[in-house]
Amino acid sequence: MRLILYLGKGGVGKTTTAAATAVRAAELGYRTLVVSTDVAHSLADALDSPLGALPSQLSDRLWGQEVNVLDEVRQHWGQLRNYLSTLLRRRGVDEVAAEELAIIPGMEEVVSLLHIRRQARDGNFDVVIVDAAPTGETIRLLTMPETFQWYAARVMDWEPGTLKAARPLVKALVPAADMFATLERLSKGVEALRETLIDPEVSSYRLVVNPERMVIKEAQRAATYLALFGYPVDGVVLNRVLPIESAEGAFMQEMARIQQAYRQQVYDIFTPLPIWDSPYYARDLHGLEDLSMVGNATFKDVDPVKVQFKGTTQEILRDGEEYIMRLPLPHVEIGKVSMTKRGDELFIEIGNFRRDMILPMALAERPAQRAVFRGGVLEVRFGPPEVTLPVEEATT
Ligand SMILES: Nc1ncnc2c1ncn2[C@@H]1O[C@H](COP(=O)(O)OP(=O)(O)OP(=O)(O)O)[C@@H](O)[C@H]1O
Ligand SMILES: [Mg+2]
Repeated sequence: MRLILYLGKGGVGKTTTAAATAVRAAELGYRTLVVSTDVAHSLADALDSPLGALPSQLSDRLWGQEVNVLDEVRQHWGQLRNYLSTLLRRRGVDEVAAEELAIIPGMEEVVSLLHIRRQARDGNFDVVIVDAAPTGETIRLLTMPETFQWYAARVMDWEPGTLKAARPLVKALVPAADMFATLERLSKGVEALRETLIDPEVSSYRLVVNPERMVIKEAQRAATYLALFGYPVDGVVLNRVLPIESAEGAFMQEMARIQQAYRQQVYDIFTPLPIWDSPYYARDLHGLEDLSMVGNATFKDVDPVKVQFKGTTQEILRDGEEYIMRLPLPHVEIGKVSMTKRGDELFIEIGNFRRDMILPMALAERPAQRAVFRGGVLEVRFGPPEVTLPVEEATT
């Protein structure tokens, strides 16, 4: 089974790209499910078919589904939530606040991913394509399996196999065996989920961008965080590319020229990931026929179900008090390296090659000390964080 997740800023074309990939995959003979986890569903519009909480068949090998995350949470974790809110109330938390706090951060996201995973397995699909919410939320979703487990363990004072301090309360509220089983199930599910999500043979993350400044920035940030948490990114879809050769009139030519500069930036930033250009259509896109056209134009003779890139795009290692960031840049010629750091942005130049990137917080607060380009890999060394000493008042 393959799992492909599309990420990108709001409105860049995630739903369209996910649906187009699904149509293409089905045409290539894969049993395909395209599923939306965004609460603001628009997958049904793109596919031009009503979708429900269970997979609906749209063509020979294509199914579509819109997960109702809130329903899922209620159905499967309602009991757990009741238990938590009662526990909090007994500790003196106000009723409404207890209800709110009983929603473990990330519970919804975890539940929707668990659901997709189960469906993929039970429905015997070759590939599941996920149309996710805009980047910020999706990144949060992806870091949740860990956070969730950490949080749950603390709130419940719970370790696998025991229900320590919570036991008397659990007994009072629900049959202990039930709660125990729920927690066991949750813990196992979350663990397996994380394994699936970081397995590069199973999961692939693809960034959708437009040739626009802010959109590219957000995708860079996403790439940094995905790499940091070990989620395998295998490509970038550059959507809404104007055909430069057929741009007519001063306005369109200027637009195409600006896009060309951003396209170059996308190539500089995301190399060595494959980048697929998807043309800008001068009309609304919906229905299987349109999506087939988009899928073909984007992927051409590439099989989008296959893993398109293997290996890391950036890696952060610890060396005593210092950190080393490694960037494989296989297509870059050897040259003089120069580097400037401003806040969480790092600008690198090697000969004619330029890259600017967004650093994770742990590196943003450290000075970039040295950069060496060797054997197709750039290594940047970050020193210990700069400490500003408090000014002491002179005592006389
Ligand atoms: N290459 C394209 N050419 C023309 N129109 C496009 C293209 N890609 C997307 N669109 C249109 O742009 C709109 C937004 O696209 P889409 O819904 O796929 O974006 P999204 O990233 O999923 O948005 P959201 O973040 O709101 O979920 C849709 O009306 C879609 O038909
Ligand atoms: Mg969408």
